[in-house]
Order: sequence, then C-alpha cells, then structure tokens
Amino acid sequence: MRRYDVIIAGGGVIGCSIAYRLAKSGLSVAVFDAGTAGKASIAAGGMLGAQNEFEYENPLMNIALESRAMFPDLRDELFEESGVDIELRKAGLLKVAATADDKPALLKQYAFLSGKDASVKWLEPDDVPSVESCMSIETAGAIYLEKDNQVKAPLLARAFLQAAVNAGVHVYEREAVIRVVVEANTVCGVQTTRGVFHSDRVINAAGAWSGTLFAEADFMPPIIPVKGECISVKLSEAAPVKTVFAVDGCYIVPKRNKEMLIGATSYPGSFDSSVTAGGIRSLLNRAARLLPVLDEGIIDRTWTGVRPQSSDGLPIIGAHPSIKGLSICTGHYRNGILLSPVTGVLMERYLNGCEKTAAVLAPFSPFRFQTKKEELLV
Ligand code: GLY
Repeated sequence: MRRYDVIIAGGGVIGCSIAYRLAKSGLSVAVFDAGTAGKASIAAGGMLGAQNEFEYENPLMNIALESRAMFPDLRDELFEESGVDIELRKAGLLKVAATADDKPALLKQYAFLSGKDASVKWLEPDDVPSVESCMSIETAGAIYLEKDNQVKAPLLARAFLQAAVNAGVHVYEREAVIRVVVEANTVCGVQTTRGVFHSDRVINAAGAWSGTLFAEADFMPPIIPVKGECISVKLSEAAPVKTVFAVDGCYIVPKRNKEMLIGATSYPGSFDSSVTAGGIRSLLNRAARLLPVLDEGIIDRTWTGVRPQSSDGLPIIGAHPSIKGLSICTGHYRNGILLSPVTGVLMERYLNGCEKTAAVLAPFSPFRFQTKKEELLV
C-alpha cells in the first residue's frame, strides 16, 4: 500500500501549484484527478485581473494583488523547472463601459481602484483608441489597468503539472478519489477507483467537483459549478494587444499569433459541456461591438469550462471543520489562474505549520459556514 505525506484530490492549477510547493519543501505528494489534470484550468482566459475583479474592499484583493505580482518570477521559475513558457503578456487591461448605462458602476470602480493605485487611469470615449488602436470610439469610457496582465492558461496548467512531476510528485490521472478514509475523526488516506492510499494529510482541491467529493464527511464545501462558453478567433492584419473586459462580463484576451480568446458565458449549476449557438452569438455580438476588427477574423474553436463558485463568493481554504488532517482549497471561481501562485505558497506554509499564514487565510476558513449554520439554529 502506498503512503504519501500529502494526498491532493484535483490536478488543476490549484492542486498542482500546491503539490509543486509541497514537494519542493521535501514532502512526498500524490495528486489524483478523475480525468486529465487541468481540465477546467485549461479553459480559462488567463487574465490576471487583480484589480479588474474588485469593486469594493474584499479580503481576497490583497492576496490577488500578491499573486499577480508573483507572475514575472514564476514565469522564469516554471520555465526552468518545466521547460514550459506560460506566455506572460504585459499589455494591461481596459475595463470598458459599452453603454452609458454601464458608466456609473465603472466610475465607482475607478474611484475605488484609483484611490489605492495612481497608475489606474480613466479614459474618456475619444481617448480609448489612443490606448488600444483597435477599440471602437463608441463606448462610454474605460478604466485602464496597466498591471492586469495575462498568461496562457493551458500553458500555466501544463507548467505547474510538469514542475510538480519533476519535483517528485506522483500524478494519477483518470483515477478518482471516491472517499476519504477516516478513523476516529482523523484522516488516514483515500480510496480511489484503483485502490487505497495512505496519508494523514489530504487536500480537497477538486474545484467545481469539490462540493460533492467526500460525500461521507459531515461538512461539504458549499460549491456550485458555473459553466462558461468561450470562442477563439484568429485575425490576420491589425490585432489588439490589450485585454478588453466589458462591464457586462464579456472579454477579449489577445494571445500570441493574433488569436483572440473571447469569453465567457455564465450558467450557474451546470457541468454541461455543450457549446450553444446562443452563447456564442451573444459573445461575438458583444465583443465585436467593442473591437469591430473581430468581424474579419476566422473562427478557430469553441469550448466550455466550469468555475467553482462558493456560496459567499470567496475561496474556501483551510482545515475541514470536523475531520482532522483534511484540508479544503477550492472556490477560486473566476480567479483560479490569477490565484494559483499565491495559493500554492500559502498552502505549503499553512500545512507546514506557519501561524502567520493561518492568520492570512482566516477570512477563507471553512469554519465560517459552520458559524453561520450555528447562528441560524439559535
Ligand atoms: N476568469 C474569467 C471567467 O471565469 O470567465
């Protein structure tokens, strides 16, 4: 029977980032994935929207900013450790009010973000094309976030996976964790579709699948899947370089070779992997209104992914409320790519007993749902 210091359920960017850091700290680590590692992660747009995603004070914003700042060094480190270039592009992001109705909310976000960082700029409609020449002047203004850069998500997933394997992590693909083996309220391993593996530390990092993973545990992380559809379009002549993100949630992320990744629809509660005509029509209409050049592009491919959303919108990170040795690390929702570097580092420190890190992670503790449940019962 195999024994590991830590077993991780879920081989996406979160699971593999944690596995990589734990292995580098000298622990033996196994990752199990029910499918192929990184299935949900590779569907992502790759935006590092540590400012774009925040409109008011939020405990997540500090670690999001910290994680975004890690990317330049991480790119070099992962290239060294895995041979994979994550294609970090430093062109910034335009958050756009497509209509006058979108403008008040965007101005409010601008006031919040510019109060914290003087590099955040407001652009009037006529000024928008001076920052991104492909942009329409038919907008109601935009925020320019020069530090919200982007990476290619499938390459980040592959780099973390390969770096983890090279650091000694055993990755078991197409091998689902069926249940956690518990004795006297303490974890002693997992049962998978192929056998039993021992460990006194298990992490549920199964993203959109984490809410139903350990059905026998008396606390399940309150996570729902949120399906998203995407399309990529290839341009041949002029192509934008900045990420364009509309207030209504439609975004265009320019990748290498003039590939424009356009996302994403949102269907809470759905794992369905079909791409609907209506979803793609809506994305193309909204995207081409901002970047008319998209109409000249060739459709490359379409796909779907699932985001793991928690019931209060924050990640769920920390000890399981009743099973000793079981940790939860999920609920990164729209920000898994952005948060993967800092999550790996924080989880490594947390599992190795760092009290300062436990304090940083306190707002994300699974215990917050227990407290709410008890309050409701009183
Ligand atoms: N991170 C963008 C999305 O979830 O669509």
